[in-house]
Amino acid sequence: MKNIAVLISGHGTNLQSIIDHIKAGKLKCNLAVVISNKEDAYGLVRAKKAKIPAYFIDHKDISREEHEKKIIEILKKYKVDLVVLAGYMRILTPHFIREYKNRIINIHPALLPSFPGTDGYGDTWKYGCKVGGCTIHFVDEGIDTGPIILQKINPLRENDTLESFKKRGLKLEHQAFPEAIKLFCEGRLKIEGRKVRVSK
Ligand code: GRF
Repeated sequence: MKNIAVLISGHGTNLQSIIDHIKAGKLKCNLAVVISNKEDAYGLVRAKKAKIPAYFIDHKDISREEHEKKIIEILKKYKVDLVVLAGYMRILTPHFIREYKNRIINIHPALLPSFPGTDGYGDTWKYGCKVGGCTIHFVDEGIDTGPIILQKINPLRENDTLESFKKRGLKLEHQAFPEAIKLFCEGRLKIEGRKVRVSK
């Protein structure tokens, strides 16, 4: 069984969905460790409730490299095969990305390559798009540029507010992440250039 680590910075609803899918037997992997760069991230509470080892690694007052070194030590300790970025609001250095090459995945709340950056829902909304959604992708050295594993589409409705659009989007995220992790853990993803081939 593959060991996975989930990195978070906040509320951790995606983390919760991963926990729930594992508990329900729908996702077969070992959620070995949760790491947050924010002490008050509610995701840490979720991890503790689920009895998953959880670490707060502060990024303040140390270099990016030092911070990542501490994280990588933990990942090694738990023999992590896959690093899942679930609302982790820090950019990884090329060193980290090379260390876990093709073994880091991220969720982005927009249909990439549209609207990279920190406010995928807001940017989709402000642009006046008729569809939004989310993207799960491998992490490469660019910002939200890595090969795409899967996308979920969230059409905008006439009576939507940004809030209602986001709420539906988050529900889709909660399906998308376990789906992508499952594909990875089953060894069904193969990166060929920009394309991710998904085998049956
Ligand atoms: C999600 O919208 C994710 O796409 C974005 O940050 C949010 C995290 O939500 N990167 P949560 O912490 O999983 O609730």
